[in-house]
Amino acid sequence: MSENAFVDLRSDTVTKPTPAMRRAMAEAEVGDDVHGEDPTVNRLQERAAEIFGKEAALFVPSGTMGNTIAVKLHTRHGEEVICEARSHVYNYELAMMAWFAGCLARPVKAEDGILRWRDIEPHIQPLSVHWARTGLIALENTHNMAGGRVMPKEVLDEICDHAHERGLKVHLDGARIFNAATYLGSSVRELCAKVDTVMFCLSKGLGAPVGSMLVGPADLIAQARLYRKRLGGAMRQVGVLAAAGLIALEEMPKRLHEDHANARLLAEGLAQIPGLRIDPSKVETNILILDVSGLGLTPDEVSRELKARGVLAGGVSATEIRMVTHLDVDRAGCLRAIEAMRRVAAAALEAKHLLGVTPA
Ligand SMILES: Cc1ncc(COP(=O)(O)O)c(C=O)c1O
Repeated sequence: MSENAFVDLRSDTVTKPTPAMRRAMAEAEVGDDVHGEDPTVNRLQERAAEIFGKEAALFVPSGTMGNTIAVKLHTRHGEEVICEARSHVYNYELAMMAWFAGCLARPVKAEDGILRWRDIEPHIQPLSVHWARTGLIALENTHNMAGGRVMPKEVLDEICDHAHERGLKVHLDGARIFNAATYLGSSVRELCAKVDTVMFCLSKGLGAPVGSMLVGPADLIAQARLYRKRLGGAMRQVGVLAAAGLIALEEMPKRLHEDHANARLLAEGLAQIPGLRIDPSKVETNILILDVSGLGLTPDEVSRELKARGVLAGGVSATEIRMVTHLDVDRAGCLRAIEAMRRVAAAALEAKHLLGVTPA
């Protein structure tokens, strides 16, 4: 990374395709994917299904579309979808489950973002004169807004076992499931063995420019193809994108541990800075959430000051900012971010001192 470039920690969605991806895109064999004739897309779908140990997979333009289709596949109008209160499906997809599937979200708060069966069970409802039936449980692993926390396999399996006993399906928003598998030293196949469908992103940490996959049983994926068309997501010679996706899928999971090590380094450095609050032991993957309220600045003010020092990060609540490590930020970049934050914090605490305010 050049000395002058921004250290961009806003999200792992900002990654740019690697030179190998760009070459593969230029050389991709293509066909009309609406007719299932794009050989590169077909290969990507076959490999995704194989790697996840499921029957079939579908290439979709975005994670949001993958989740939208999954909710529709598993539910009927007027049902509820149980999800965690800070989950992406509930908060950041424009109420898609209401808009496309006619369902209501039933958000359940878990302090660490990790729902357990005991949290979910009391919210499962049969159809009655007052209640909407529970149609689906939608989980997220890793959990973005809980700071990239990982749902352990036993927790996920327990939820699936109980859900299936009750005739309920489980969809996993696995936008960053390879980060979870890396943390657990497991495979995505093992981790997702019991979920009915999983969506994962080729973009984000895996570095592809565009695309996500929805993986699951063949009959559901065939139905998903029709919903994708309805949503305007059926594309033509899209092998140019799938070619980058194949590299993302085959090669990029191997390097995610570097992003995790960088996030931990960043968290440990930030934890030393007066006025900031973060517990590095809770930084399990590539996302960290940092409480900046002790500086007497809002997250937007902190982000502005960081930007002036060459670092990009974004506010996620009234008191917190989020930083995400990825392919395009190295160890040196993380050290630069710590130094920038040290200066921002020192200036803020100095200003507070001059104003006679006791630091928190
Ligand atoms: C956990 C999670 N799920 C789903 C998505 C949606 O992905 P996309 O931006 O490709 O629609 C994101 C995006 O950041 C995410 O973090």
